[in-house]
Amino acid sequence: MRFFIDTANIEEIREAASWGILDGVTTNPTLCAKEGREFRSSIKEIADIVDGPISAEAISMERDGIVEEARKIASIAPNIVVKIPITEEGLAATKKLSSEGIKVNMTLIFSVNQALLAAKVGAAFVSPFLGRLDDIGHDSIAILYDMVVVYQNYDFDTKIIAASIRHPLHVTKAAEAGADIATVPFSILQQIVTHPLTDKGIDRFLKDWDKIKNL
Ligand code: G3P
Repeated sequence: MRFFIDTANIEEIREAASWGILDGVTTNPTLCAKEGREFRSSIKEIADIVDGPISAEAISMERDGIVEEARKIASIAPNIVVKIPITEEGLAATKKLSSEGIKVNMTLIFSVNQALLAAKVGAAFVSPFLGRLDDIGHDSIAILYDMVVVYQNYDFDTKIIAASIRHPLHVTKAAEAGADIATVPFSILQQIVTHPLTDKGIDRFLKDWDKIKNL
């Protein structure tokens, strides 16, 4: 499974990239607004740091506007992927953009049928939002399993990004289900590196080493 980081924060991106585990970045308007920086220059900076797909979201709501905005976003850097919410207009725009070679990450995906439609119009990625499904009492992981099976049935090239990851178990379950990618907030990346027994083990080794180092 590939790991993306779900943030627009440059320090978090640099830090996660320095661990050697980072394959890409996803942003959305909420994450960009949180950083309070100009959109184009911050996406460019992110695209220069990480050698992998960088998702940046279009906010237009009708097809011609989405296509025009997506072309501008895609021109920021060669590794940009344009995030487009699934709607009838979003599907039409994605069909056009994918025929032009612009990669789309179809976002706000909550059902297998939506993922199926996104694949049919040539989206490079789909982003099912696990946490938001769980929030309303649905079983996000069961939906993710079904999505993986349906994509396998038809040999779609579209890659599944498990998004809206809220805790470490989402990461494990996404990997078990066969998601191609998990996009994970920085705090959860930090959480999955650690284990209390690892910390305890290091502490014990260091204390024992202290006893013998001057022998
Ligand atoms: O990648 C989408 C993700 O950012 C949404 O996460 O926690 O706002 O549902 P959340």
